[in-house]
Order: sequence, then C-alpha cells, then structure tokens
Amino acid sequence: MSFEPVPIFLAPMAGVTDLAYRLLAKECGADYTVTEFTAASGLTRRNTNSWLKVETDPREKPFIPQIFGGDISEMAKTVEMLEDRSDVIDINFGCPAPKVCRNDAGAALLRDPDKVVNMVRRCLDSTDVPISVKMRLGTGSGPNTALEISKRLADEGVLRICVHGRTLRQRYSGIADWDQIREISDSVDIPVIANGDVVDTKSAKLCLEATHAGGLMIGRGAIGRPTIFHEIKQGMGWYDKSAPWGDGGPSRARSWCWDRYLELSQEVYGDTGSKNLKRHAVSFTKGLDGASSMRVRLHSIQDKAQLGREVSDYLHGLCEIENQVEIASSSL
Ligand SMILES: Cc1cc2nc3c(=O)[nH]c(=O)nc-3n(C[C@H](O)[C@H](O)[C@H](O)COP(=O)(O)O)c2cc1C
Repeated sequence: MSFEPVPIFLAPMAGVTDLAYRLLAKECGADYTVTEFTAASGLTRRNTNSWLKVETDPREKPFIPQIFGGDISEMAKTVEMLEDRSDVIDINFGCPAPKVCRNDAGAALLRDPDKVVNMVRRCLDSTDVPISVKMRLGTGSGPNTALEISKRLADEGVLRICVHGRTLRQRYSGIADWDQIREISDSVDIPVIANGDVVDTKSAKLCLEATHAGGLMIGRGAIGRPTIFHEIKQGMGWYDKSAPWGDGGPSRARSWCWDRYLELSQEVYGDTGSKNLKRHAVSFTKGLDGASSMRVRLHSIQDKAQLGREVSDYLHGLCEIENQVEIASSSL
C-alpha cells in the first residue's frame, strides 16, 4: 500500500529537543519541530531559563514554541508575549508529570473539556498566530475525552491537533491506541497528527493505515536517531534525496549526526555548549560495540568540548571498522 506524503514532526521532548537538536532533525528530514514544553508561569514572570527554551534560529521555520499551564489568563498572556517570535503556538494537554498535573495543567486538563475549550478560545482571541494543540486520549479515569475536545477545538478554529494514543494514566506504558486516533481524524476537518510508537518505516505505514492521519509525530524513535526522518521518507518513497551523511553504514550516519550536532551547538550556544550534551552522548552510542565502557569514561569528563571529541573519536573508530568490513566483503 502506498501513501500520499504527509508531514513528519519531531515530537517536543523536554531535555532532548533543544534548538541544536531540532535543527539537526530538520537537516535529517523532519518537516516540523516544536520546542519542549515551557511553563506559561515562567514566561510571564520573565524567568530566564523559560525564555531560553523558546529561543529559535532563522533555519527553524516554522517556529513552534509549546506552552503549558493551568491558568487561562496566564496562558492567554503568554500567547501575546510569544506572538512576535512564533509562526504557530502549540498548547500542551498531554504532559503526565505529577508536578504539572497537580497544577491542573498538561494531561490533567483532559478531565475538564470545558476548561480546555475556554483556554484555547482565550488563546485564539489574544493573537493572530495560529494555535495547535497536543493531547493524550484522556486521563484514563472515566471515558476518554479527546474525541469530544477535538471536535470542539476544530470548531473554535485551531490549526491542527496532535494526538498521542495513550491516556494520562498510561504514561508511556502499553501500546498507543491508533484506532482512537482514527476516530478523531475521521471526525474533524482539520489535520490530525498521529503520535505514539512510530519507530521506523514499517510502523509509520501501519500507523497511517490505522489512523488516516494527516501527519506523523515521532518522539522516542528520534532520540539518538535523527536519521529516522530521512529513513521513513525514503522508505515511503516520498523522496529520493541522498542522505546528508552520504553512503555508508549506520556508524557513518551516527557519526555524521553527532559531529553535526556539535557544530550546531557551537553555532547556537557558543562555548557554553548544549545542556543536553551528556544525554545525547548516551543516546547516540546506545547499543554500539564498546559503548558502555566508553560511557563510563564520559561520566568523569566535565569539559563539554572534550566530551564531544571523545564521542566523535569513538564513532569515527566504528566507521573505520565498518569501512574495513565493507572492503573485505567486496573483495571476496
Ligand atoms: C524524554 C521525553 C520528554 C517529553 N517531553 C514532552 C514535552 O515537553 N511536550 C510534549 O508535548 N510531550 C513530551 N513528551 C511526549 C512526546 O512528545 C510523545 O508524545 C511521546 O513520547 C509519544 O511518542 P513516541 O512514542 O513517538 O515517543 C516527552 C517524551 C519523552 C520521552
């Protein structure tokens, strides 16, 4: 079965999708990127760390900051404060973290469809910038509300809705329920973006078939593997562009992506480096030969530039081995 091309989104992920990583994902084929969620309360109080999370770069077009909060006026005010820098503003109704849900924000709001609709309406009224939302299926206590909320938000005029096919109660357990996403896409006239458990071309095809979605969003499958966007687009037959990392095996792709992440981090953060560098180092080397002993060494390195180089050297070493194996097998 073949599918018409749909946009592929890099999911917002706190502690992962920093600006340099989002730019890297774009170079690897992601059509849209979204910032990690940022508290409306932090932005309205002009908290420096919160504002750092909504920094962008001319290469990140469109720019989509994601915000969350439980106070409707504060959310509307935040939308006003962000409108100059944003192409779209995304509202989070999906976060399951107890410290967010305790404040009646994130996925906890799904228990109160009226409040969700009022919040989004006030946000829409306070700006000309399009508003999108990202939500789960429901709280998992009582019937799911995502279908009702989606229909009402489509009538309010949101740009699109991304649905993660799990409930708040499930957090990340179980498998994403793509059938419930299909019920939503079949019921509204705006694009529904399917999210949950897409990790390769095969699952992307199955997900599109099951959900009839107008786009795919990929989270964990893109951690340490930004190449996934290119792989899916190639696998789907949506484009025949050559990969930016050229020919070669998986080590070459990882090594190119890591070096590019370091370059982009230098460009956007300067010598301060990326605050997520260590986490990315672990993800980029996960499952590779000798990675666990290399990672033990990484824990003792405080200097970010040195840490970056250690991982580069390690990945270049794997490329060498990969090349030698290729040469040896082609001469057989
Ligand atoms: C480490 C991590 C951080 C996340 N942070 C956010 C976030 O800031 N905003 C958000 O809407 N979802 C966040 N999510 C949820 C993802 O965007 C996505 O909905 C979820 O991982 C399911 O998609 P997947 O199966 O492709 O991973 C996060 C997920 C992970 C694993």
